[in-house]
Amino acid sequence: MEIISAPQDMQARARQWRGQGLNIALVPTMGFFHRGHLSLMEYGKTQADRLVVSLFVNPAQFGPAEDLARYPRDLERDAALAREVGVDVLYTPEAAAMYPPGYQTYVSVEALSQGLCGASRPGHFTGVATVVLKLFHQVQPHTAVFGEKDYQQLQVIKRMAADLDVPVTVVGRPIVREPDGLAMSSRNAYLNPAERAAALCLYRALLAARDLVISGEKDREQILAAGSEIITSTPYTRIDYAALVDPETLEDVEAIEGEARLLLAVWINKTRLIDNTMLSESRLCCV
Ligand code: PAF
Repeated sequence: MEIISAPQDMQARARQWRGQGLNIALVPTMGFFHRGHLSLMEYGKTQADRLVVSLFVNPAQFGPAEDLARYPRDLERDAALAREVGVDVLYTPEAAAMYPPGYQTYVSVEALSQGLCGASRPGHFTGVATVVLKLFHQVQPHTAVFGEKDYQQLQVIKRMAADLDVPVTVVGRPIVREPDGLAMSSRNAYLNPAERAAALCLYRALLAARDLVISGEKDREQILAAGSEIITSTPYTRIDYAALVDPETLEDVEAIEGEARLLLAVWINKTRLIDNTMLSESRLCCV
């Protein structure tokens, strides 16, 4: 596995591969790999001749009061895990190369970025869309793979690529969970044992909502109430949002007709976790 840090070196390697007629897949990450990341990489490998994993803790997507400085990092371990999966290039640009002095260009995906995580993290999705577009230009992937845990992010990136005519197929892959159901996240590392136990309320809330839908309930208020009750009765928790939305536009739906996405963001003391699931009126959907 090659480790490339300079954007121009990454671009040169991508140009070389494309010149040889090779397909490129990209898995963008902020590192501190867990099984969720590894499953995206394994999938990426099946989609292309060359797999690039980018590892960049992007300052542009963190607010001033957020966890940029304490975001977990372990480059050596990440490199070993990526090598095991068979990654061709681990791309690790520096912040100074991504945002050199004088940098002033940002990409904003308007409506999709406003609510949900965008409401409590102003500017977050502008930072995400900007860095992902830069990564697309640097790595020139045919396919880019993202996790569905960051569901709003996935929709923002799909919209950005479509609106700006970026010739890349953006693929969302299912959430990977711990054996007890907690969605894999680098931020789980912040949780102490009591908080880790409390964090399971997100998954339990999704299950309760799913069960209600399976029993025939379609009404938004009833579905959200079932999930919210589980969270509010769990210690250390504060709901940031619980929303039932159209899977593409992320606009609120009043009732489930076809499919809807249930999205949760919950503070467990000082750690904010997100999770989501598809709810379908016509078939069983797994969380
Ligand atoms: O999901 C993430 O890890 C980040 O938001 C991403 C897509 C790598 C952009 O920095």
